[in-house]
Amino acid sequence: ILIQPNPEAGCLLAAKIMARVVREKPTAVLGLATGRTPLQLYNELIRMHRDDGLDFSKVTTFNLDEYVGLPGTHPQSYRHFMDEHLFRHINIDRARTHVPDGTAADLQAECRSYEQRIADAGGIDIQLLGLGRNGHIGFNEPTGSLRSRTWVKILSEQTLRDNSEVFGSDERGMPKQAITMGVGTILDARQCLLLAFGPSKVRAVAHMIEGPLAAICPGSALQMHPRAIVLLDENSAAGL
Ligand code: GLP
Repeated sequence: ILIQPNPEAGCLLAAKIMARVVREKPTAVLGLATGRTPLQLYNELIRMHRDDGLDFSKVTTFNLDEYVGLPGTHPQSYRHFMDEHLFRHINIDRARTHVPDGTAADLQAECRSYEQRIADAGGIDIQLLGLGRNGHIGFNEPTGSLRSRTWVKILSEQTLRDNSEVFGSDERGMPKQAITMGVGTILDARQCLLLAFGPSKVRAVAHMIEGPLAAICPGSALQMHPRAIVLLDENSAAGL
């Protein structure tokens, strides 16, 4: 558990941790996340690529989740988010960037194929995670199985409300389901790096770290992970 003075410091440290993985293993497999939290981390990785030559040419990525029904060209899709906020600014081979396909005709087959692609890539070296206000990781909402694999989840009212701020004017068209790596998929990563900043995450952070291991707070599953780093700021850590 690393508590930084503010989100900026937290993101700089997270970028250093991710960059180190890439430097030590140029063919690293990175698990990536969307949301507001990692934006500054991605900016810092872009800066490290530009100024320090951080090389992504052999890196493979797998994103945690994607809205069902949104094509990658949709401005609110997570594929689009990743293209805009990271991929198009670094020297990554787009064919090595994976985001679940929310428009797949057979969603169950897409879930199975996503798991297979992760396995074929040799597993995830470091999985970046945010934390939902209700304790979700990826789109694994409370009460789902802690052993789940990539699956389709119905989003909770709270998550729909929280994410509608980001979804903006199009919020009525906001999908109510998503494909997400399961909690079991996430726990298989060799290392996890969860970021949670700000006062809105206090309760989820406290439960995740000090509460019981329980499906009501999917983030608490990280208590079982042998190499999990949780990066907080003073606000999100206030309940510990
Ligand atoms: C979304 C994403 C999560 C993310 C969470 C927190 O629901 N599926 O991966 O961690 O929201 O988002 P934010 O970082 O914007 O608080």
